[in-house]
Amino acid sequence: MTHAPAPQAIASFPDQFVWGVATSAFQIEGAADTDGKGRSIWDDFCKQPGAIADASDGLRACDHYHRWQDDLDLIDRLGVDAYRFSVSWPRVRPGGDGAWNEKGLDFYERMVDGLLARGIKPYLTLNHWDLPSELQAKGGWTDRDTVHRFVEYAQGIDRRLGSRVASIVTHNEPWVIAVLGYEQGIFAPGIKSRAAAMQASHHLLLSHGLALQALRAQGCKAPLGIVLNLSPVQSATDSEEDKAQTRLEDGKLLRWYMDPLFKGSYPVDVIAYLGADAPRMQAGDLDAIRTPMDFMGVNYYSRAVVSAKGPWDTTQGGLPLTDMGWEIYPEGLTELLVRMHTDYPVPPLYVTENGGAFKDVLQDGQVHDADRTDYIARHIAAVGEAMRQGVRMGGYMVWSLLDNFEWASGYEKRFGIVHVDYATQKRTLKDSAMWYAAMLNARSGHRSHSAATRTTL
Ligand code: FCB
Repeated sequence: MTHAPAPQAIASFPDQFVWGVATSAFQIEGAADTDGKGRSIWDDFCKQPGAIADASDGLRACDHYHRWQDDLDLIDRLGVDAYRFSVSWPRVRPGGDGAWNEKGLDFYERMVDGLLARGIKPYLTLNHWDLPSELQAKGGWTDRDTVHRFVEYAQGIDRRLGSRVASIVTHNEPWVIAVLGYEQGIFAPGIKSRAAAMQASHHLLLSHGLALQALRAQGCKAPLGIVLNLSPVQSATDSEEDKAQTRLEDGKLLRWYMDPLFKGSYPVDVIAYLGADAPRMQAGDLDAIRTPMDFMGVNYYSRAVVSAKGPWDTTQGGLPLTDMGWEIYPEGLTELLVRMHTDYPVPPLYVTENGGAFKDVLQDGQVHDADRTDYIARHIAAVGEAMRQGVRMGGYMVWSLLDNFEWASGYEKRFGIVHVDYATQKRTLKDSAMWYAAMLNARSGHRSHSAATRTTL
């Protein structure tokens, strides 16, 4: 049973609030070896036995590289203002260094122009995890040289696309790259070292700050920011042990990133906890990291409940779970946004990802995903509540436009508001997509040019 509010529910959101849908390159493009694309660490990771739940890979994914025009038409039919996508670094600069791949750059140029022609704002992310394999061979994000390669990559993309995109994000979720990729080893590149993870996190942050400086120095006009995955971190009980552990976990997840970005320092409690695993830094690094941003993105899915007995998780709080085993906790989004606004001098915030994996059933060309609609509607309401409490919000993007390659979960988990039949590549709008479109269509001042196409939904 859905509690989804009627489409008018967003009537109180400001007219300039940006509504969107999000994807990332590796998860949808496929064409892994096409037109000169180089290998990424995710191409390599998928080959490791047992790394991906269904032993799948990104070789074909949603075949978006070949179907992008139809997919842009689909986005247009939803009536969104913006499309958040990422550029595959190894597609545009295969080895991460050296020659650029014109065919790869052309692909993104055509796509950006295709979005603009449809009146949709392109929101570009530079690094949604698919690091060129050649850079990993030299240490990946643990190697300080990768910072400089990233800055060059950012400059190259800006030269080609910067004047046409509506915003540029440097990194998507540095915590995930560092902790899941370099400490737990359950994501690419599959390394298990806490020292490596912390060094990687520092280099990711440093490359973000230096890229902002370099882009502005070459005249980039696009608003610039970063995207973090954040959650409220809550103690399982009132015991002193659990509360102390909760403070530390909050430090590792949130303050480790927000403090250097906005205060110019790493949290001392986390540095003390890390001991010899704390990252090596150079003079000036922390100043670079706190380079002011024009906006900031937060990806929100669930909360973390912490006890001193073991690692935090998202399943034990007693709330209903999504198909990822993540608790559904929309209030947490309000709490998080208000906390960011209260504790840090943040620029306007965007929810750059939010959505849910659920067990969908495609029957007679329909997917009645009331659980997903309910999830999205309740989180949108939570954003509205944060705005009522004074948080400056710029927009909200659903994760995801399409069912896609959900990293280590492969194709088993479906986050799309559009269903993908991977055998035929047929796209089917789920009920949640129609609900989202109806809601956007009910706005005053919505994109008028696509009103005609919207009636075909
Ligand atoms: C986020 C990722 C995104 C997707 C969602 C479910 O951590 O940024 O690519 O996998 O989770």
